[in-house]
Amino acid sequence: MVIAIRVYELGGPEVLKWEDVKIGDPKEGEIRVKNKAIGVNFIVIYFRTGVYKVPEIPYTLGTEAVGVVIAIRAGMCDLTIGDVVYHLGSATGTYAEEQIVLADKEMPLPPIDPLVVASAMVKGLNARFIVRTWFKNIHSQPKVTEELESQTQELSEEDTTPNDVEASSRSNSYVEQGHKVVVNTAVGGVWSLLCQWENMLGAIVIGTVSTKEKALQAKEDGCHHVILYKEKDLVTRVVEITSEEGVDVVFDSVGKDTFQGSLACLKHRGYMVSYGQSSGTPDPVSLSSLATESLFLTRPSVRTSAFSKDEMHEAMKEVLANVASGTLRVRVNHIYPLSQATQAHADMAGRKTSGSIVLIPDGVEQ
Ligand SMILES: NC(=O)c1ccc[n+]([C@@H]2O[C@H](COP(=O)([O-])OP(=O)(O)OC[C@H]3O[C@@H](n4cnc5c(N)ncnc54)[C@H](OP(=O)(O)O)[C@@H]3O)[C@@H](O)[C@H]2O)c1
Repeated sequence: MVIAIRVYELGGPEVLKWEDVKIGDPKEGEIRVKNKAIGVNFIVIYFRTGVYKVPEIPYTLGTEAVGVVIAIRAGMCDLTIGDVVYHLGSATGTYAEEQIVLADKEMPLPPIDPLVVASAMVKGLNARFIVRTWFKNIHSQPKVTEELESQTQELSEEDTTPNDVEASSRSNSYVEQGHKVVVNTAVGGVWSLLCQWENMLGAIVIGTVSTKEKALQAKEDGCHHVILYKEKDLVTRVVEITSEEGVDVVFDSVGKDTFQGSLACLKHRGYMVSYGQSSGTPDPVSLSSLATESLFLTRPSVRTSAFSKDEMHEAMKEVLANVASGTLRVRVNHIYPLSQATQAHADMAGRKTSGSIVLIPDGVEQ
């Protein structure tokens, strides 16, 4: 038996139950992993509350973890016992001391602290797809695909140096030098990394936050302007900052409370990337409301962004390379024992967290 955090009904953090589960031996194509660090992402709140559907109830929460391989179905994969691997689940399973996972979903890791990998992977993938994919600069031509492929291959080489990584991160991106971007809000696990990456690309980054403490972090992460959006009107400030022009793109993950304001920040032919709904699902938008400034609107998901498993793996390697080189500074701001997952959820939903949140199975040394 192993300990896992299980959910039997939709609801608040109190529905998380700490209990023994039997997981058995790996079957064909599976391995058994002992988790060392478990990444916490806002999406688990959507699953827990029913905004997104889970395949079945009851279920074990959690989307990503780093663990050690402790059992393998003989001859089924290239991994060996003791390998440290990263695994990205579909929606469930990682809030557990141990779990069974499909061998082909595992990714062997370079020697980076498991805590950092669990803090960085999903968040970094989001930032990576944002700067490379989800805002298409229609004022200049995007780079060709072959060039992007060769850059990505370079990043997978072991001898990649920090300068290589930074140079590559600057090229082949749709966010470019001089673009004005709004990141709404700026200090969560995804957004801390995104602000750093956009700043590195030369964008003028405008971040929103709810408190002065969060504003300090946003500045450190490369926001040129920080708006305390509970105190100041977002649109008024963006109009001032951009001398009435508006911004090229808004990345909005707050949803209901900010969606209309975010749209109003855009310049002519600007891009609205609606990216999440931490305050609730945005109200429906009439298509004709986009026509006044010929705006673009997209609602991407990191899970469906890649064309193939290979593309996703290349993106993961790029994130790891950027983390290993220090190009992206991962903020492991909150570490909870797995047994305190309820508290972690309450703090995240209560807007008390910033940067990344990680759960460590009780008794596992960091
Ligand atoms: N599309 C995708 O594929 C994808 C992937 C990953 C994440 N996301 C989205 O990105 C967002 C944040 O992800 P994250 O993991 O980095 O979390 P996070 O930013 O650490 O947490 C959410 C933040 O949203 C703000 N917020 C505003 N209204 C809120 C409310 N009513 N309740 C709770 N928070 C509220 C808070 O910042 P302030 O206190 O500063 O307002 C809070 O810290 C989520 O909306 C998530 O769905 C989308």
